[in-house]
Amino acid sequence: MSMQSVTHAVNVRLGEDERSIVVLDQTLLPNETKYLTLTDRDAMWEAIYKLRVRGAPCIGIFAAYAMAVLAKGIEAADFDGFYAEYSALSQYLGSSRPTAVNLACMLRRMDGVVLAHRESPRQELLDALTAEAKAIHAEDMEMCRKISEYGLSLLKDGDGVITHCNAGPLATSRYGTAQGPFYLAKEKGMNIHVYVDETRPLLQGARLTSYELTRAGVPCTLICDNMASIVMKQGKVQAVFFGCDRIARNGDVANKIGSSGLAVLAHYYGIPVYSLGPSTTIDFHCPSGDDIPIEERPHSEIRELYYEKPMALPEVECYNPAFDVTDHSLLSGIVTERGIVRAPFEENFRKLFPEAMP
Ligand code: MRU
Repeated sequence: MSMQSVTHAVNVRLGEDERSIVVLDQTLLPNETKYLTLTDRDAMWEAIYKLRVRGAPCIGIFAAYAMAVLAKGIEAADFDGFYAEYSALSQYLGSSRPTAVNLACMLRRMDGVVLAHRESPRQELLDALTAEAKAIHAEDMEMCRKISEYGLSLLKDGDGVITHCNAGPLATSRYGTAQGPFYLAKEKGMNIHVYVDETRPLLQGARLTSYELTRAGVPCTLICDNMASIVMKQGKVQAVFFGCDRIARNGDVANKIGSSGLAVLAHYYGIPVYSLGPSTTIDFHCPSGDDIPIEERPHSEIRELYYEKPMALPEVECYNPAFDVTDHSLLSGIVTERGIVRAPFEENFRKLFPEAMP
């Protein structure tokens, strides 16, 4: 398996006819590699909700392609009729998952394209939507590469790094964000060992991260989430790298459930924690982590999903928040495509992204 076949794997693309989207069904990995061809709104909504397509940037890219495809099926004769139908479809897709801001952000960007073509012939509008979705995809590739380089600058040969969930090529376009530095290290002949949290309950670490890293030849060790403390205490890791689903203006970071626990542990052991993500994951209008909506998912994911048999009685009460918020005080930095942002985050976001800050 070549490194490129992992870092450049295509998990989301337009179908040949540009009237469908082809996605790799991530729920079946690592046991089965199956691509789905999606043409209708319900299948697209379900693909996001069920995490067939997942990871904040990847969801944003998928949603952009989805709107480009769905717009082609709108038959309304005039612009107002078209826009009413388009908006309803966009709102519907946007309701699939609430936490990762890339979904809302990319739907808003596509909406802007529609409004900018109010006076254009319909075909021109449709072509512009397709072009925008492709641009969003290409921009993410570019951002991931830069984030990976800045991330790698934080590591030295021989370091161990612990990561959580999956922030690799599967969750993005190429390389990934929090995982990108590990591939770059391998390309440059640096020795970095990655400890991969399995990431209960959906096992993105076990099923996806350890799968991607192993196939790319990056040395990694899979651990259960509750083993992070001993790995840190034994001096096996010099940094924590995880992704992000929404970053608030003050630097609070929402990421996969368990991320904040990892950060609290790392703080105790004096290990630096970095969140890595593109600026499309920064919600400049969100003041703090308290304002980030946290998705709650079905209890069956805890009780039975990925087990051969249910591991709790069906009537057992569960609580299944899909994300948590790491307080900015626990972060040594946020790695973006424009550089590494350190505290005070709000002030430094303003310096790096002056055009985006309200
Ligand atoms: O629920 P998921 O699998 O979509 O959650 C994904 C994460 O939390 C990732 O760490 C985050 O989206 C960053 S992906 C580059």
